[in-house]
Amino acid sequence: MLTLENLSCPIDATPLRREQRSLKCEQGHSFDLAKTGYVNLLPVQNKRSKDPGDSKEMVASRQSFLNQNHYFPIVQAVLDSWPKSHFLKGMRVLDAGCGEGYYLDEISQALSNQNIQMERCGLDISKWAIAAASKRDKTVSWIVGSNASLPVPDERFDLVLCLFGFPVFTEFSRVLSDNGLMLLVESGPEHLIELREILYPSIHEYKQTFSDGVSGFDLVLEQAETFTFSLDSQEKIQNLLSMTPHIHKASYEGREAVQQLESIILTADIKLRWYQKQAKEMNHV
Ligand SMILES: C[S@@+](CC[C@H](N)C(=O)[O-])C[C@H]1O[C@@H](n2cnc3c(N)ncnc32)[C@H](O)[C@@H]1O
Ligand SMILES: [Zn+2]
Repeated sequence: MLTLENLSCPIDATPLRREQRSLKCEQGHSFDLAKTGYVNLLPVQNKRSKDPGDSKEMVASRQSFLNQNHYFPIVQAVLDSWPKSHFLKGMRVLDAGCGEGYYLDEISQALSNQNIQMERCGLDISKWAIAAASKRDKTVSWIVGSNASLPVPDERFDLVLCLFGFPVFTEFSRVLSDNGLMLLVESGPEHLIELREILYPSIHEYKQTFSDGVSGFDLVLEQAETFTFSLDSQEKIQNLLSMTPHIHKASYEGREAVQQLESIILTADIKLRWYQKQAKEMNHV
């Protein structure tokens, strides 16, 4: 399968063409492919910091945690809840904020076992995440870029995945084909509650995200998935902690208390929401 096809220049949105080890636009902007085959399409002017997104250390911790498959039930829940009318061969999928590519890889492997192949693109603003992802699977187009300005033409994909990420709905809608699907996966009210009870003196009330709906999309299906898993070392607990926002939010005392743990049994509480892009006429009402 050819990769890095049908992308746009992040500076002027003109089409990018492959020329050996780089992608070039008609205005002469050129983007070299990294050794492992990914491309960085995040122009300096679009960067808010020198090293945006998850750091090298965060990426390594998350990769180590996810590779132990504690979160495989999330992959299974995505597959089980997938709107069956959209189980199409050759579907073009974007994982927006893909991290190290764990979910995209696991989902596509499971579908491929059912003889369903997809054209896959994984994008993340962290070059560390994409560098790790590009070592995982060479048949995916891996891109360093931002959800805020996706370097792809309109209607380029049939499905956008956004797991624990930063959705930008106007961009997701732009790059989706008519009636295309979007999956949002987020944490629910009880997610990692045992850890939060140690980290914080009191637990904040849970606030539902996008409770007024998402403009330009219809909610097709909403599902909660709850399961427990156990971590049997301080290292594994720290790996998990560093992939959550709590690593920055919790107090020193809270983090100290977690450092004393040798093991913990945790609840995962996940919310999956599938949306469908509204047809064009409705978008303009
Ligand atoms: C909590 S992680 C989730 C990663 C992956 N989806 C997963 O579930 O393992 C959030 C990811 O979003 C990325 N990110 C942050 N801002 C972004 C943006 N504007 N565009 C694309 N990715 C972004 C981070 O670098 C990080 O890899
Ligand atoms: Zn250009």
